[in-house]
Amino acid sequence: MRSTTTLFFLFCFLAPSALGCDASLLIDPRPGRPSEKSTGPNASVRGYEIIDEAKRLLEAACPRTVSCSDIVTLATRDSVALAGGPRFSVPTGRRDGLRSSPNDVNLPGPTIPVAASIQLFAAQGMNANDMVTLIGGGHSVGVVHCSLIQDRLADPAMDRSLNARLRNTCRAPNDPSVFLDQRTPFLVDNAIYGEIRRQRGVMRIDQNMGLDRSTRGIVSSFAQNNALFRKRFAQAMVKMGTIKVLTGRSGEIRRNCRVFNSGR
Ligand code: HEM
Repeated sequence: MRSTTTLFFLFCFLAPSALGCDASLLIDPRPGRPSEKSTGPNASVRGYEIIDEAKRLLEAACPRTVSCSDIVTLATRDSVALAGGPRFSVPTGRRDGLRSSPNDVNLPGPTIPVAASIQLFAAQGMNANDMVTLIGGGHSVGVVHCSLIQDRLADPAMDRSLNARLRNTCRAPNDPSVFLDQRTPFLVDNAIYGEIRRQRGVMRIDQNMGLDRSTRGIVSSFAQNNALFRKRFAQAMVKMGTIKVLTGRSGEIRRNCRVFNSGR
């Protein structure tokens, strides 16, 4: 779940100027030709082998029919359901892009202010409700490296017992990771919103969504209502999956998700 959802987010959510859900993130860098994958924030993404395996089987059964972009989208849909999240259908028919440049990658950091994050999502056609749904739902599973939450470890407003526990874990060498949702770290559910309301958000942006006037009401409504969260998460994931997709004759259906068909 973790790897495919992160992949999906990174995959669809690059800088406003960039290309969206077009599988540009899957292209391997080569000597003299870096790709999106080479950039810092994307370097920790895992799960590419799962996509390779699905592509191999699909090419054997029905060559040049299912794009790498659709494979990631469908894998994400399935991994959300397997992690206890909502089941939903996603439209398919995406095609793979012909460009993958590190210059297109402009991912937000963990301490991005809420207003700036709202702007970033707005540039992709998503509103504040979509943003709270996607960040909270995405961070309802998975981990963050201690180096990225140093500001939270020093924050006196954080729940004291959680703060003490995280500080203890983060004292270990080699930058360990801690769960983003301390209550149900393997489930896509609304627990993280309750945690945020109790000052137990682990990442700065997560906690700030519970404090900022423009988003705290949305956090509360999800904390109280898992059915509402599930419905909105499914809708917002489908919406994220439509960001700047290529269809029709644009792009291509890659034979190998890691290389353009031209071999460039
Ligand atoms: C402003 C928006 C966001 C920011 C700043 C952000 C930032 C981060 C950071 C810094 C990490 C930890 C990376 C690490 O320690 O290696 C992370 C993890 C993660 N993020 Fe986000 N994220 C955002 C939105 C999203 C969205 C929209 C989703 C999915 C819908 C998502 C899904 C995930 C998942 C699943 C993980 C855990 C990865 C793992 O366990 O390996 N994030 N995010």
